[in-house]
Amino acid sequence: MECDYEGPSFRGYFRSPELTPALVATIKRVAPHLDADTSEQFRTIWERDQNGSCRGEYEALAPFLNRLSPKRILEIGPGLGRSLIYFSKALGWHCSLIHAFEGNGDSIRYPILGPRSSDSYCGNITGLKRVLEFNHVKNVTIFDAASYALRALPGPYDLIYSFYSIGFHWAIEYFIEDLLPLIHFETVLVFTTPLNFVSPHQLSDFHHKIIRWRTVTPSKPYLSLLLLSRSKRFLF
Ligand SMILES: C[S@@+](CC[C@H](N)C(=O)[O-])C[C@H]1O[C@@H](n2cnc3c(N)ncnc32)[C@H](O)[C@@H]1O
Repeated sequence: MECDYEGPSFRGYFRSPELTPALVATIKRVAPHLDADTSEQFRTIWERDQNGSCRGEYEALAPFLNRLSPKRILEIGPGLGRSLIYFSKALGWHCSLIHAFEGNGDSIRYPILGPRSSDSYCGNITGLKRVLEFNHVKNVTIFDAASYALRALPGPYDLIYSFYSIGFHWAIEYFIEDLLPLIHFETVLVFTTPLNFVSPHQLSDFHHKIIRWRTVTPSKPYLSLLLLSRSKRFLF
């Protein structure tokens, strides 16, 4: 596949563009634990927070993701794209096909393992594009939930992941039917989950692995990552 990679000087970390009021409004929705504003000082804080969150996930997942070496990837609910940027650079995904599924919206209600809800979207697709462009991540196609159903995305994918979105705020059992058309036998699915996560019966066709990892959020110092696959090959 043709791709343009910036070369070895391309560093592996999230960078924030100048923070406009629209971006700050989105940060307040997708990362409500931060006291966001348009200052340079907050821009540094946001970069550090986003890189810190990604580093924990990266350290927990790199052994699996390096072996998997996914060529077709879907992130569900990327927010402003921190993981797409960090993982692309840290794991060399610049030649992979990457899809992102996100929706614009003003909602900031965050249940834990709550039911599926049509008004759960709180993203800003224009802002997401801007942050990706600023970080020179060019190989992501964004699918707007207002125009595409999750199950209708052009899979199958080798890796599907979702951090602090489906599987965490909205329980995975409400989405698994939509994910089945998007996977093949060796697809790995990864979700942030609370520490008390118990695998529901809807996942009984999958092998699963739960990794406890350290976050950068003082109120939730540890969380779990749930890895699912129909094949054992990349999980164990
Ligand atoms: C707490 S934010 C997490 C953003 C990002 N994943 C991160 O970890 O920084 C939750 C994200 O999930 C998105 N979202 C909510 N419901 C969704 C759904 N049904 N499908 C895909 N994304 C969804 C929201 O729009 C929002 O961007």
